[in-house]
Amino acid sequence: IKNIAVLTSGGDAPGMNACIRAVVRTGIYNGINMFGVLQGYQGLINNNINPMDARSVSNIIHLGGTILKTARCLEFKTEEGLDIAFANLKARDIDGLIVIGGDGTFTGAQRFAKKHGVKVIGIPGTIDNDLSGSDFTLGYDTAINTVIEAIDKIRDTADSHDRLFFIEVMGRDSGCIALRSAIASGAEAVLLPERETSVDELVAQLESGASTKKSSSIVIVSEGHKDGGAYDIAKKVKERFNHYDTKVTILGHLQRGGSPSSFDRILGSRLGFAAVNEILKGSTMQMVGLRGNEIHTTSIEDALTKHSFKLENDLLEMTKVLSI
Ligand code: F6P
Repeated sequence: IKNIAVLTSGGDAPGMNACIRAVVRTGIYNGINMFGVLQGYQGLINNNINPMDARSVSNIIHLGGTILKTARCLEFKTEEGLDIAFANLKARDIDGLIVIGGDGTFTGAQRFAKKHGVKVIGIPGTIDNDLSGSDFTLGYDTAINTVIEAIDKIRDTADSHDRLFFIEVMGRDSGCIALRSAIASGAEAVLLPERETSVDELVAQLESGASTKKSSSIVIVSEGHKDGGAYDIAKKVKERFNHYDTKVTILGHLQRGGSPSSFDRILGSRLGFAAVNEILKGSTMQMVGLRGNEIHTTSIEDALTKHSFKLENDLLEMTKVLSI
């Protein structure tokens, strides 16, 4: 392998820049010509592929977002899209590709590698933490820190006004952000996509809090919850529970931005470094991830299909116990 390209794709995640920096510098350190693809797979198709040197990744380790930009690319799902992308890589003799992203990114990488034999290594970069094979995905820790900073502020005003707040957090089908934020912010209840929580149950929990002199409450609703988002749940609860004035806040895309935490900067650096070393060893269709405190590789297929819900059992149990 002489030439390697790196791209970010799907939703951006804090720590992607630290990771790009590690990929580019590890490649250059090993005598490889490094290229950056702009706007993910769209850039592969549009031939937006530029050489990168050690200085092109200076002063980015602390920045959120991704200097390579990102996109969700429909064209890459077509056979023609895959062929054009391959031709653009071939024209530069690029034989290795490192993709940083989530499940959509990995699905694209898998099809591309199978069709054209490009060596591909994946790095789990998504705030959702929904890939199997890595205990943490890049950006997840920062997103939780952002969420709890917001909830702390909401708690101040909730407490001053004796209000009940429903706060919706991201995570698509994964309740990881919701669960950790609930524990870290001391929320009274949390609604997760992976678990049934009936409105009856929630109302009973809130009633119990009210009866023991709780004057305000925070309920975290994961966006993927089966019975609807924060507005839907708030409406249903309001019909049966009116001890407090009720408000709803959707945190939305602010959860995706911001300077990465030290954890995400270090994780991004480790995974970027590991990804280049894997590709140099000749590996392909693998994802590098963190298990325990060690770097592990998992096949991209397993990372995608063996989706294990990663909600920690002790945290799940604590959501009830610590919120009495
Ligand atoms: O996958 C990351 C994520 O932020 C999810 O939590 C969310 O459901 C989705 O992306 C939102 O995507 P978009 O930014 O394309 O609206």
